[in-house]
Amino acid sequence: MAGLIPQHFIDELLARIDIVEVIDRRVPLRKTGQNYSALCPFHDEKTPSFSVNPDKQFYYCFGCGAGGNAIGFLMEYERQDFPQAVDTLAMVAGLEVPKERTEKPEKVARRKDLHGLMEQAARFYQKQLKEHRDSQRAKDYLVKRGLSGEIAKAFQIGFAPPGWDNLMKALASDDGTRQLLIDAGMLISSDDKCYDRFRDRIMFPILDNRGQVVAFGGRVLGDDKPKYLNSPETDIFHKGKELYGLYQARKTVRNLERLVIVEGYMDVVALAQHGIHYAVATLGTATSEDHLRKVFRYCPEVVFCFDGDEAGRKAARRAMETVLPLMEDGRQARFLFMPEGEDPDTQVRTIGTTRFENLILNATPLETHFFDALGAGLNIDSLEGKARLSKLAAPLIQRLPAGVYRELMLGDLAKRTGLTATALQNVLEHNPPAEAEPPPRQEPRQKPPTPSLPESKRDTLLYMISLLLLHPASANALFDEALPALNNPYQKTLESVLALLRKRPESSTAMLLGHWQGQPEGEVLTRALSLEKPNYDAEKAALALKECLSHLHKQQHQSELRLTVDKLRNANYAELSEDDKQKLREMLQRKAHGD
Ligand code: CTP
Ligand code: MN
Repeated sequence: MAGLIPQHFIDELLARIDIVEVIDRRVPLRKTGQNYSALCPFHDEKTPSFSVNPDKQFYYCFGCGAGGNAIGFLMEYERQDFPQAVDTLAMVAGLEVPKERTEKPEKVARRKDLHGLMEQAARFYQKQLKEHRDSQRAKDYLVKRGLSGEIAKAFQIGFAPPGWDNLMKALASDDGTRQLLIDAGMLISSDDKCYDRFRDRIMFPILDNRGQVVAFGGRVLGDDKPKYLNSPETDIFHKGKELYGLYQARKTVRNLERLVIVEGYMDVVALAQHGIHYAVATLGTATSEDHLRKVFRYCPEVVFCFDGDEAGRKAARRAMETVLPLMEDGRQARFLFMPEGEDPDTQVRTIGTTRFENLILNATPLETHFFDALGAGLNIDSLEGKARLSKLAAPLIQRLPAGVYRELMLGDLAKRTGLTATALQNVLEHNPPAEAEPPPRQEPRQKPPTPSLPESKRDTLLYMISLLLLHPASANALFDEALPALNNPYQKTLESVLALLRKRPESSTAMLLGHWQGQPEGEVLTRALSLEKPNYDAEKAALALKECLSHLHKQQHQSELRLTVDKLRNANYAELSEDDKQKLREMLQRKAHGD
């Protein structure tokens, strides 16, 4: 995003201003120890978890995970875009923003135009629901689905009338706007024809974090197919990231204790109609890690709500695997299954608010669901069943972040299988002793055996990123070392940070945070701020980095070893290729040397 504002200018700007002053002018800060703190301006709270670090020039909230440098703060707090925030700060610092940037705002202006048009489209559809000559049908439909005018308004529900060019006529005042509407996914242009994407549908606007309309879902009024039509991916809409209803939930519920993830738009709206204002829906996709991060940013508990059929069970299994790495201590995940043939919409209408809320409160906790789901179809009383369960469960438990919760799960598994916790720890770290549990041959594997690190090892990389971020000078320790090639989402960011520090070793924490503002790397950096920060200086940080690196190398050797051993177990030594044999010999040697 830094785009055409030269990076050196941004660096200089960040070096000149003081984030404490910038924030204090807007959110009065109190000095607490070395840092400053305040009630977080980005979420509701009673005790301050928002802190500003004057030395490193960044802010971070332990409650909601917001964090960044002074530019990022202005962007969040004053809802400025990047160039605006730079302008504001430049004014304070008495610097002039170099002219180069004048091309850049085009893109910003374009996004603004897109947002503006989507807003107009939403208003247009809402108006049609009130006034169009065909609107009675739409209103009748909503009434039939049990929705009041009030709820329709809260969700800005509208009506795209029948016809090919209602929206186009209303909004596309010139060619430029028409093109923007095409880019926004609202008009479809094919050959020399151009027409409205959404026709004769109930319109559900999809709002982003800031309450701006970024897309629509449109439902037919009858049984035509496709039942729902959604906006395509655009510059301002990424389907896999948004959660329908999240903005409304945050606005309506002051202190969100939990969010319920349901499958459909109608489920979210129907639950809100019944006073349950904390449901959100993915947009016809499976729940992703991004979705869950978002959820946990606003509350400590997620309740997955699924249909009671086979598809629902499958979706639950996926959701369970997705949520595991995010289960830090203090978070909870629960599972709730609707009776066969029902969804939350029909169910809440049948049983009412109180009973539905009771279902939510009594939903099955992850720890119970986990063993129920894995144990299904196994005879846990038999030795074979126990062996099977530990084999299935151990790698999944390993995906949990280290902490009390993980220990409890391990303890639970130990109880169920009769293996001691230490023995299980062994299963986790090494291969299970072959005599104790003969591995079932050729069982379908959970995952293709690629030599990637297990999920929990991601944390090592994130930790390394946080060390580099807080102690840029420590990067020295890694300059001459090769990173193992890990199939890991943080690897790219780690490498980018290292590359930048190699080029510009004098970069500060705030500069690093500023360098990838608004980009995926920037998100990772903010996440890195959330890690516990040991009281290191650059020297200690360098040592820690070295340790991490050797840990990673060790992990990689181990996982390669494990793969080869797996292979060996399922094959005859004689059947192994010369290559594999050699690899195995080498690795065993390395292991013998305690490498
Ligand atoms: N969906 C979609 N495209 C479809 C069908 C479904 O994008 N052709 C998505 C929508 O986000 C929808 C969700 O999947 O809300 C769940 O689908 P479904 O359960 O069929 O819809 P409901 O929300 O229950 O809708 P209704 O009650 O109106 O049938
Ligand atoms: Mn439904």
